[in-house]
Amino acid sequence: MKSAIGVFDSGVGGLTVVKELINHLPGENIVYFGDTARVPYGIKSKETVIRFSIENILFLLKQDVKLICVACNTASSLALPSIRHHFRIPIVGVIGPAAKEAVYATRNKRIGVIGTRGTIKSRTYENEIRLLDPQIKVTAVACPLFVPFVEEGVFKGEVINKVAQTYLKPFKDNRVDTLILGCTHYPIIKPVIRQIMGDQVTLIDSAKQVALEIKNILTADRMLNKGARGKHGFYVSDNPEWFSGLARTFLGKPITNAKKVEQCSL
Ligand code: DGL
Repeated sequence: MKSAIGVFDSGVGGLTVVKELINHLPGENIVYFGDTARVPYGIKSKETVIRFSIENILFLLKQDVKLICVACNTASSLALPSIRHHFRIPIVGVIGPAAKEAVYATRNKRIGVIGTRGTIKSRTYENEIRLLDPQIKVTAVACPLFVPFVEEGVFKGEVINKVAQTYLKPFKDNRVDTLILGCTHYPIIKPVIRQIMGDQVTLIDSAKQVALEIKNILTADRMLNKGARGKHGFYVSDNPEWFSGLARTFLGKPITNAKKVEQCSL
């Protein structure tokens, strides 16, 4: 099926999900929308994130997509549960696949979650994990400084190490053996998190898990594209230059075709 996979995020972070999609589904066409005019979502109210998410989905539906991936953890937590059943095509968020993998990975039934303030406050990860196994103890901590660090190119060094040590202390105190990286930006600072948490702790990357879930859905529903190499289109609601400048960090390669969408067409 030639139709594309539609992906949306609050901004540039969802490119970590696109990177995994390209990795696992190289033949698929992908249309990405980054809401760079309204980023960040992590500090916004539930009502606002729901409204933005519906607008983003309606934009993607105009691009001939067969499935929509909500790459943003905050939108997946706050908006997806109430809107996913109002659309005909499959809409897949990052929470379910990462929660499932974490439940599978934990041996001592102690799982940690890090994310934006919105994601953590919503308790969506916790609820999803408890549905799968009510005996699991979940520790969840918001790490709001990680997003600006990553966007400013601070991936290592004394400052981020100090902040990460403070954020991650509750997980060490509670002896979690599995930690969900519940934000688009966190795969970029995995080495910092790994160094503090140690090799014994399994780090679950929500970007990778959602890509694998989408591969399963497209395979089961016979919706895979037979093409050898997919095409990738990128739209943003503001500042395509800023978006393209950060693309290499998140996607691992440059983007030269990012287009600005006029607000009125959202
Ligand atoms: N994309 C967001 C997330 O994964 C992080 C950035 C934001 O706050 O908008 O939660």
